[in-house]
Amino acid sequence: VQGPPAPPPAPWWRTQRERLLRMAAHGTPRYVYNLAVVRERARALNGATAIDRRFFALKANPHPDILRTLQAEGFGFECVSQGELQHVFTVFPQFDPGRVLFTPSFAPRGEYEAAFARGVTVTLDNVEALHNWPEVFAGRKIWVRLDLGRGEGHHAKVKTGGSASKFGLPIAALDAFVARARALDVRIVGVHAHLGSGVDLPKHWQQVYAELAGFADGIGTVEIIDIGGGLPIPYKPDASPFDIAAWAAGLAEIKAAYPRFQLAIEPGRYLVAESGALLLHVTQVVEKDGVRRVGGDAGMNALMRPALYEAYHGIHNLSRLDDARRAEFDIVGPICESSDVLAHSRLLPAATAEGDVLLIADAGAYGYVMANHYNLRDLPHEEAMDGDGIDEP
Ligand code: LLP
Repeated sequence: VQGPPAPPPAPWWRTQRERLLRMAAHGTPRYVYNLAVVRERARALNGATAIDRRFFALKANPHPDILRTLQAEGFGFECVSQGELQHVFTVFPQFDPGRVLFTPSFAPRGEYEAAFARGVTVTLDNVEALHNWPEVFAGRKIWVRLDLGRGEGHHAKVKTGGSASKFGLPIAALDAFVARARALDVRIVGVHAHLGSGVDLPKHWQQVYAELAGFADGIGTVEIIDIGGGLPIPYKPDASPFDIAAWAAGLAEIKAAYPRFQLAIEPGRYLVAESGALLLHVTQVVEKDGVRRVGGDAGMNALMRPALYEAYHGIHNLSRLDDARRAEFDIVGPICESSDVLAHSRLLPAATAEGDVLLIADAGAYGYVMANHYNLRDLPHEEAMDGDGIDEP
């Protein structure tokens, strides 16, 4: 008889509580990344044997220790700007450019030139660039990023397909793109699609592979198919973890059906989100018109996701983790904007008070890297640790 499903393992930060409190004492807001979690996620992805090439979308978190951890697990990097490319070659001066992908959007001509000069793989998603800058592309190998006519993802603002989106070459324009490429002796060796971020459809990636394989056959010179990133993580307490084994099995199945191509992926969030916690100190607890608010020294300046996408992050009072008496609070930051709310109506210890340390969970992706100086507040601190689940004294 099968019993109820096993409860998910306790999040890493519970066992690292003392260490995190000591870190917070050195100043908040502070992002802490647990590299053991990054490594574990990388290995889970590496178990998907159908995948030939893995790129980390470094926009999610370019912290050098994270990049080193992923590089050691065999990942290359997907970059979207000259700054990101420069960063890779600063962290790894001898890095093989063949393991770097440049997938920019509306980048200036000079960034394509610089990318070709470095020898990295360039992805292009419009025909205008081939018309306007023929000398930049002539004789090169490139990948083409396609818009499969739809976007997916956790919020409208992270969908990257369909006619409302600025990304990708529409299928209707593919023939003209291929013809122009041929005229310039440009060889299209890869096709690419990334439909959005936080896609909660397990069969999405195999579907994308199948569609791209059809177009790749038509192009005739394609060797590799990149099905993007977008793997979700369970931000909400009732969400189940992404079934990576089922995902891998689906990819193996579709790859067997279209075996002529190498398969590439470029996830960001899945690899790093759960490794990161944002620590902050409570500044004030205020009740107004029946609403109790806990204010902290981190708000939408330190973590934009709730204000931008109404994103959910678990929030915990690390100073009173086992305090059973709870009360409902909004958690707000110090920024002079009404959107500076990290969470609405959350249960926190009723005794939550000035000086307590709050932990915002799953903040390792699109956290620090999207932080800003608004109101001339300082950027958060960042720190990496390698926690094995056993708290140090
Ligand atoms: N590849 C391309 C071409 C992308 O544009 C992105 C993300 C990725 C891969 C990685 O996607 P991921 O696996 O991380 O979902 N700031 C938003 C997410 C924006 C994603 C932008 N592009 C958020 O915090 O949810």
